[in-house]
Amino acid sequence: MCGIVAYVGERDASEVLIEGLRRLEYRGYDSAGIAVQSGSRLELRKRQGKLSNLTLALRENPVQGNLGIGHTRWATHGRPSDLNAHPHTDCREQIAVIHNGIIENYLLLRRELEAQGHTFRSQTDSEVIAHLVEKYFTGDLSAAVYRAVGELQGAYAIVVIAAGTEQVVAVRTVSPLVVGLGEGENFLASDVPALLPYTRRVIFLADGQVAVLDRHQVRITNLRGRPVEVKPSTVDWNPVMAEKGGFDHFMLKEIYEQPQVIQQTLGGRLIDQSGDVDLGLGLDFSQVQRVHLVACGSAFYASCVGKYVLERFARLPVEVDLASEYRYRDPVVPEGTLAVAVSQSGETIDTLEALREARRRGAKTLGLVNVKGSSITREVDDTLYLHAGPEIGVASTKAYTGMLCALVLLGLHLGRQRGTIDQKQASWLIAELRRLSGLVQQVLDHAEAVNELGRRFQNARDFLFLGRGINFPTALEGALKLKEISYIHAEAYATGEMKHGPIALIDANMPVVMVATESAVYDKVISNLQEVKAREGIVLALVSEGDTRAAALADAVIQVPRVSELLSPIVNVVPLQLLAYDIAKRRGLDVDQPRNLAKAVTVE
Ligand code: M6R
Repeated sequence: MCGIVAYVGERDASEVLIEGLRRLEYRGYDSAGIAVQSGSRLELRKRQGKLSNLTLALRENPVQGNLGIGHTRWATHGRPSDLNAHPHTDCREQIAVIHNGIIENYLLLRRELEAQGHTFRSQTDSEVIAHLVEKYFTGDLSAAVYRAVGELQGAYAIVVIAAGTEQVVAVRTVSPLVVGLGEGENFLASDVPALLPYTRRVIFLADGQVAVLDRHQVRITNLRGRPVEVKPSTVDWNPVMAEKGGFDHFMLKEIYEQPQVIQQTLGGRLIDQSGDVDLGLGLDFSQVQRVHLVACGSAFYASCVGKYVLERFARLPVEVDLASEYRYRDPVVPEGTLAVAVSQSGETIDTLEALREARRRGAKTLGLVNVKGSSITREVDDTLYLHAGPEIGVASTKAYTGMLCALVLLGLHLGRQRGTIDQKQASWLIAELRRLSGLVQQVLDHAEAVNELGRRFQNARDFLFLGRGINFPTALEGALKLKEISYIHAEAYATGEMKHGPIALIDANMPVVMVATESAVYDKVISNLQEVKAREGIVLALVSEGDTRAAALADAVIQVPRVSELLSPIVNVVPLQLLAYDIAKRRGLDVDQPRNLAKAVTVE
């Protein structure tokens, strides 16, 4: 949450900052602002609302300079307003600060600083940082920052500049920061996409590291100023991957990228003849006796599918937990536990903390993560990357299918190692996996059938999503997608559970999306469908190609290609993503930046 950009070099800083913020707006869009060093002064421009408000302000009143910081905000303390927008400054507007995270002891610090004569302008926790740096600043910016952060409690990333100082000083504790290395210029951002137009050579800052940038060099130290050896990495994403590429929205582009993502996630990891899977990991799984999957949001629903897959393939007991619950519920973590953190961003703080909890209790740890160099990847024993490319749309789509594929790979690998899947079964599954990308493409090629349903049901007030077995999580994910971007109330239930309560909601105004594809419980799903119809519910059934029974009962059908039940969530989720997208678009909503949300949730 909150996008951060900084630049020092010879270019027009405001252009670099705005371009960076444009690529990071998915991190928060309550307000945006920049501070640029202009001569011996700092020039600030800040606007409530989307980045376009700030760009308009800059058009009317431009700023000149080659060093600056920029921020796009997801509000925590203080409502969205021009005043609460970052950067925040000290009393004399000589020091400017941007911040992501929460300063837990800000009230105490604010009272102390006010008592010492500092005047505050905003209601944010962030402003205390500017005044603290002011208090300690005697000409050496990094020295003042080291002293100031010594007094801060909480999880944060901060970036500080001072008038007349040719430096950018950044500190990371928990919230992510990445330095971009240039020639005669250097960059800093909260996420890689902001850096892609300029450089792919980066340094991912670790917790407790400080970066001091000027145009010629980057110095990394610990919080006490001691130099730290770090090796730059090269990111394999390119700038085009973080563009819309002709689609109206990133979300739609990312939905359409899924056939390719499936190939990339599986690619090179399947060994057809032996039926084995090469995950390319150093982690020894031979002592694993149980698996704990921890995740949030869509990653949690992917993990729910993972439970079915891992239990079926590897015959291991699997627990799935919402990360924010796991860490506070005193979990039992016996010897032989493998804790798997599933996360697109690798930065979700709840997931990171759950993982730390599992590790403290002796678990081995594995990350299923998309973003390279992210916090989770640095703390786990090993990482299985999703290779989904940058996901910009706030509603996760391609990372979700990437997670499902990675969980299938993990299940297959454990199953082969433990002898719970024989070579024949494994080879058959691998053949099925190889078909997946084409099957998802077929769903996308028939998107117009889904769009027709979007047209019919765009004005519904509520939706019920039902799914059973391994497709119960598909219903949960379908409902989440619809809620997030269309603001329609949607609930998901396990189909068999409907008669225990939610059936009371069903009437002629309630569209019920039912996952009714071929499965071991298909007959039971048909009975449940009849129960909905008996109460005049409107059923939108997701059925397998050629199905006649469900199709005969339902009010509308979406057909998907037939595939093994264990892999069906990967195909079935796609029409539900398309439906959510289509409805949100028809309702004229901001699909890529839905209200109140942000892409990576780095506060608890
Ligand atoms: O980056 P992560 O996968 O850890 O993010 C987890 C959730 O915040 C995320 O899936 C969220 O629920 C999305 N908005 C879902 O579309």
